[in-house]
Amino acid sequence: MKVYIETKRLILRELLDSDIKGIFELDSDPEVHKYLGNSPIKTIDEAQKAIDYIRMQYSERGIGRWAVVNKVTGEFMGWSGLKLNTKEESYHPKYFNFYDVGYRFIKRFWGQGYATESGIAAVNYGFNTMNLEVINAITELGNIASHKALLKIGLNFLEDYKFSAEGNEYQLRWYEIKNPSL
Ligand SMILES: CC(C)(COP(=O)(O)OP(=O)(O)OC[C@H]1O[C@@H](n2cnc3c(N)ncnc32)[C@H](O)[C@@H]1OP(=O)(O)O)[C@@H](O)C(=O)NCCC(=O)NCCS
Repeated sequence: MKVYIETKRLILRELLDSDIKGIFELDSDPEVHKYLGNSPIKTIDEAQKAIDYIRMQYSERGIGRWAVVNKVTGEFMGWSGLKLNTKEESYHPKYFNFYDVGYRFIKRFWGQGYATESGIAAVNYGFNTMNLEVINAITELGNIASHKALLKIGLNFLEDYKFSAEGNEYQLRWYEIKNPSL
């Protein structure tokens, strides 16, 4: 099992098949999916597919979101980290093949600074280990918690825009942070 980063309170490690119960708890919660297209999963098979999809990104794109685990208790809390967004999944009409920072936590872990703490670590990894020039992020307009976390991580809000996908129109926000050492 590969551990990528340790922060003050968290371990960011590769997502494993054994995280399936945690992923099911995370992705079956309608509140978690309020700003993610409102289609929470219903079966354990869908949780396995979510894990497979992230693990595919590790091998095919060299990076994907990491499992976030509480350092003291070992509890699975959700995921956080970087993703390389291909054209099919970029959620931006103009940009694709960009790296974004994102996170998703089980509800009982909200409001304790974990998105901010893990997001800062992920951005530092992108700049210092991967030598990325820029990291982006996207949120839905009403997702105030994510907006605030992104600003605290250090991203700059650039624009609001509309995006249509799977028959839905989304009001989205676009952010970026540039590598200060390049
Ligand atoms: C978005 C999410 C990851 C935030 O995680 P978190 O660990 O609670 O975030 P943080 O504790 O780092 O808080 C970030 C800021 O948002 C604020 N915040 C948290 N929840 C909020 C809410 N419901 N409404 C308004 N502000 C909120 C926090 O107070 C904090 O700001 P502050 O320091 O100025 O007080 C979490 O709510 C989540 O998993 N949501 C479901 C999935 C999702 O929407 N992911 C993001 C998709 S872009």
